[in-house]
Amino acid sequence: MKALIAAGGRSTRLRPISYTLNKHLMPLANRPMLSYVFDRVAEAGITDVIVNVNPGEAETMKNVFGDGSRWNARFTYVEQQGGANGIAHAVANAEPYLRGDSFVFFLGDNIMAGNISPLRRRFEEEGLDCLIALSRVKNPNRFGVPEFGADGTLLRTVEKPENPPSPFAVTGIYFFNDRYFDGFKTMTPSARGEYEITDMITWFIQNGKVGHEEITGWWKDTGKPDDLLEGNALLLDELAMNETSIQGSVDDTVQIQGKVTIGAGSVIGPNVLVRGPVVIGERTRIEQAYIGPYSSIGNDVTLRNTEIEHSIVFDAAEIDCGKRIVDSIIGSKTSIRSTQQSLPRGHKLILGDHGVVEL
Ligand code: DAU
Repeated sequence: MKALIAAGGRSTRLRPISYTLNKHLMPLANRPMLSYVFDRVAEAGITDVIVNVNPGEAETMKNVFGDGSRWNARFTYVEQQGGANGIAHAVANAEPYLRGDSFVFFLGDNIMAGNISPLRRRFEEEGLDCLIALSRVKNPNRFGVPEFGADGTLLRTVEKPENPPSPFAVTGIYFFNDRYFDGFKTMTPSARGEYEITDMITWFIQNGKVGHEEITGWWKDTGKPDDLLEGNALLLDELAMNETSIQGSVDDTVQIQGKVTIGAGSVIGPNVLVRGPVVIGERTRIEQAYIGPYSSIGNDVTLRNTEIEHSIVFDAAEIDCGKRIVDSIIGSKTSIRSTQQSLPRGHKLILGDHGVVEL
């Protein structure tokens, strides 16, 4: 079995950050989002991994994740010809690498708690053509949704229906065999101009043997800023299972509560309270500050005279504002300063397109 990971797309819902950083590289608990997908695939014993990327982005992605040896796997980066024409199209684009094999198709913006090995086993043991993983959600209209008959038979899957026929999302973890490519020949783009994976699943339901399974652990599609923060929190909770690890230097005036990781070369203090779960990267400087639960602070950050909670701070940001920051995503090399420091007083903003500030 092989794996195909979707790491292309436009990520418009994560602007402005996605203007300069592919969303799959955004840090969650200080690791790029996509690395968690590679973890899941590696755990399932899959070593041949194809990564679908936007045209022109293969080198960037390869520079970050390498040849796959970190996961004991072989990665092949494949650019999606013609760009983001839908996730069903991303699979068809990878046909030369997948023909003749079964594969797990994993959307790169999906993070989950569990191991996908049981799904792989079921797909293989039952000789399925397609297996989909479902998750019960509050807002199924944001996802692909399965429709069941009165006897519980899976009838079809529909993309972002106004009136969802069931309370489930079709998660972005799919198993297919290579009949996929025959089915794709019959596909046409949807009203929004994309080849929909839900249409492909419906084709499999009508032409093959399809299984479905509810996943019970947490699962998150990190498509929007709030989801990114929630995904970060879920991953920090996982980290909380492990021991606190402090490699940087922490002086006597610093209080550390709960599970906290501090990277090498970071200097914390004086007068800092860190209340976990929190990760702090390498070479970061924090003084006179409160770092509250569910915060990830990147590498080379400077944070002074500030309280921050349930937020993600990317590398090399500088924050010194005398304020309390919550539920925020702060991009790389961003500077947040106090208004007191220059005249005239007032909120002075230099914001990129699609930036969001709540004052
Ligand atoms: O997360 C689960 C949902 O993912 C499913 O319930 C939906 O049925 C499925 O269509 C998909 O919906 P999204 O609206 O979340 O898809 P999105 O456009 O965000 O793309 C999903 C991932 O695939 C994301 O990591 C970007 C990548 N992608 C997307 C497109 C459109 C590509 O690699 N190529 C593409 O052409």
